[in-house]
Amino acid sequence: MLGIYFSGTGNTKYCIERFLDYYDGSEPISIESPDVIEAIRKSQNIVLAYPVYYSDVPKIVRDFIYQNRAEFKNKEIFIICTMALFSGDGAGCGARLLKKYGANIVGGLHLKMPDCIGDVKLLKRPLEQNKQLVKNAEIKIANAVNALKQGKSTKDGLNILCRAAGLFGQRLWFYRQTKDYTSKLKINHHMCIGCRKCVALCPMSNLSISDQKAVSGNQCTMCYRCISHCPQKAITLLGKEVIEQCLIENYL
Ligand SMILES: Cc1cc2nc3c(=O)[nH]c(=O)nc-3n(C[C@H](O)[C@H](O)[C@H](O)COP(=O)(O)O)c2cc1C
Ligand code: SF4
Ligand code: SF4
Repeated sequence: MLGIYFSGTGNTKYCIERFLDYYDGSEPISIESPDVIEAIRKSQNIVLAYPVYYSDVPKIVRDFIYQNRAEFKNKEIFIICTMALFSGDGAGCGARLLKKYGANIVGGLHLKMPDCIGDVKLLKRPLEQNKQLVKNAEIKIANAVNALKQGKSTKDGLNILCRAAGLFGQRLWFYRQTKDYTSKLKINHHMCIGCRKCVALCPMSNLSISDQKAVSGNQCTMCYRCISHCPQKAITLLGKEVIEQCLIENYL
């Protein structure tokens, strides 16, 4: 089984690693890796994992699927989708895209993990609760792998009711927040020390340095990676200040 994933702050990477540990011990590959396309070409069975953003597929994952659509034809794909609270059809959104390009979707798995939105209080939980969420996810993963091996794969997020929940409970509701979101990142130039850490980490090459300060372009996928790593807490996106720098390592 080939595992491919996108992960902004580590939750999804952790989940697909555990999934493959239980499945066959193989190592997943990030969609940011130059080796990923060749790996897809060689594999018939693929597990694709991504975080849900407003009950939808992150831009980076959507772009990746579209740009490499020919490679997914006739592949058997299992989808893992991580989330902080709820997504009607997080896995279903990716499934519909992949089906359009000829893939066969064999299952879906929704996993509740710590919230990665470091500049909004709404979904923040105490550390112990976040640790428990990760443990619960691990149990769900083990059960899902067992079911898959027995030919009875889980179908989280894949049916029509899930689709309605994703659309009416999330996508329509959050339409305004997601409009023009690729250029909404804010960098406080009084706080930025020009260390380039965010530039090196951004999966979209959306950040650069000008006059020794970081500047954002219009290709942000909202992954919160730069926000969670900036030593000055100088970057925000949905909120006004960084409350917690959310990284999976904090919750293990
Ligand atoms: C822009 C954005 C939107 C999000 N929308 C949702 C959502 O609709 N439902 C939800 O439960 N979690 C949502 N989340 C939380 C993430 O899906 C969750 O924390 C995920 O596990 C992060 O994975 P990662 O660490 O691999 O990046 C959102 C996160 C971001 C950054
Ligand atoms: S990581 Fe923070 S301090 Fe460093 S360049 Fe980026 S915004 Fe500035
Ligand atoms: S600018 Fe930051 S939040 Fe946006 S894609 Fe790059 S690392 Fe992710």
